[in-house]
Amino acid sequence: MTDLGKKVIYQIYPKSFYDSNGDGIGDLQGIIQKIDYIKKLNVDMIWFNPFFVSPQNDNGYDIADYYNIDPRFGTMADFEELVKKLKEIHVGVMLDMVLNHCSTENIWFKKALAGDEKYRKFFYLRQGKEGKLPNNWQSKFGGPAWSKFGDTDDYYLHLYDPTQADLDWHNPEVRQELFKVVNFWRSKGVHGFRFDVINVTGKAEKLVDSTDPVEEKKLYTDTPVVHKYLKELNTATFGKDPESITVGEMSSTTIANSIEYSKPSEHELSMVFTFHHLKVDYQDGEKWSKIPFDFMKLKELFTEWQEKMDQGGGWNALFWNNHDQPWALTRFGDTGKYREKSAEMLATATHLMRGTPYIYMGEEIGMIDPDYSSMDDYVDIEAKNAFKALTKKGLSDQEAFGIVKSKARDNSRVPMHWNNEKYAGFSEYKPWLMPTDQARINVQDELAHGEIFDYYQKLIKLRKSEKLISDGHIKMFLKDDPQIFAYERYLEDSDEKLLVFTNFYSKEHTAKVPEKYQDKDFQVLLSNYDAVNGKLADEITLAPYEAWAIKIK
Ligand code: NOJ
Repeated sequence: MTDLGKKVIYQIYPKSFYDSNGDGIGDLQGIIQKIDYIKKLNVDMIWFNPFFVSPQNDNGYDIADYYNIDPRFGTMADFEELVKKLKEIHVGVMLDMVLNHCSTENIWFKKALAGDEKYRKFFYLRQGKEGKLPNNWQSKFGGPAWSKFGDTDDYYLHLYDPTQADLDWHNPEVRQELFKVVNFWRSKGVHGFRFDVINVTGKAEKLVDSTDPVEEKKLYTDTPVVHKYLKELNTATFGKDPESITVGEMSSTTIANSIEYSKPSEHELSMVFTFHHLKVDYQDGEKWSKIPFDFMKLKELFTEWQEKMDQGGGWNALFWNNHDQPWALTRFGDTGKYREKSAEMLATATHLMRGTPYIYMGEEIGMIDPDYSSMDDYVDIEAKNAFKALTKKGLSDQEAFGIVKSKARDNSRVPMHWNNEKYAGFSEYKPWLMPTDQARINVQDELAHGEIFDYYQKLIKLRKSEKLISDGHIKMFLKDDPQIFAYERYLEDSDEKLLVFTNFYSKEHTAKVPEKYQDKDFQVLLSNYDAVNGKLADEITLAPYEAWAIKIK
């Protein structure tokens, strides 16, 4: 894992990147055709969402065959060609390993259903209790976490959709099978792995009833045994590969655990995805709500996670967007007049922190949530379930729709906008999910006269050339300022410091410069407004959504 601090990772949701064969679904050949575009960004690795054989009930996170490419995305030959072509431009491949659960179409589940003892032990099969389910756990997609196991007396556990059966990691044979999967893809030249919800693999020994939702999560999240599993996974698979980059998707985790998951001396993973900063627009912790984001809370969370992970030797993945989140620009920025400035400001805020930045496809051209008008426009099972649950709770259809629209995962799954055509240049055929804003936001226009893509290029370049960014420690300042998020990056063996100022609002804002920085000469490394070198005064004024990264001595 060399130079982790210099790397930048791009995320591609294959279903929505580019459709090469006119069926309305993106595919591997489509990605190959767009390699020149990817090359321009100068990223180091691409994380691909799952394209393995799957019935697609959860868009590929329900894997029926871990060893083959789903025909709707292409063939193994396409995959090999993709790896080769990316290697030619020095871009590595990161695959999504969904090892907490598999599809109920998977041969393991089918054999278990047929009564094969070996495979019955691959899953959590339990008898009901006095006519009730084995316990009261809830699925993260709504409804109970248990479904009837064929026509037996048993139920099987699924923390997600009923077609995603949880694998019992307590069984060493299961772990061996899963490690084999990882090694198979390593043998195809893959060095990067993203492990889906990996911190829920260590369910409590006794699957007891929970007393409340918070307690419930504790029964299967971040249990000590997960660290043992990850150490085993590391030893059995990527551990000795100097090029490996791994990231664990951590559901509701803690800083202490995240340090252990990502500290090099623990031999678990390179870094963690955590989500606390993306819950600052949840009302009382409830995702399906619609409130403005809490800026002070956002700053507090960044401060806590960045500083403590730094002190503990852990490593963060830095990101605003992914295929599970509505677009950050719609949530935290401005989709109108200041779309470009706010996109650049948000990118600056995360990219210059301590960790490894991830860019979700389309972020680099400033994509925003689609403007859908009916539930029929959405595809995701989670959104459909949420709409039902909200109306059942008494909300009107319109109220429920408004909430779903603001939080649905489909927001970011919309096809990449390549140009302003009817299907955004993504496909010749009606796409599986419709684009809506391609007339205003698309790659063609962005490359011709936009400023966001160019800004991302600069951010990526900066991380590779500035040791303060790739290796520096971090300390936040202006913690009480209601508009500015600011931090310092520093190295122990140097007097140089990088100062980053970002204005999260459309109003110009003046703040006091901390005394220790006053009168220092500064050199501008990057800004989304015109900025020149100078001397720091006792106050600074930031324009709407201004981002300012300067170096001082
Ligand atoms: C996290 C993935 O990112 C999400 O898309 C999926 O639905 C769940 N894990 C379950 O695999």
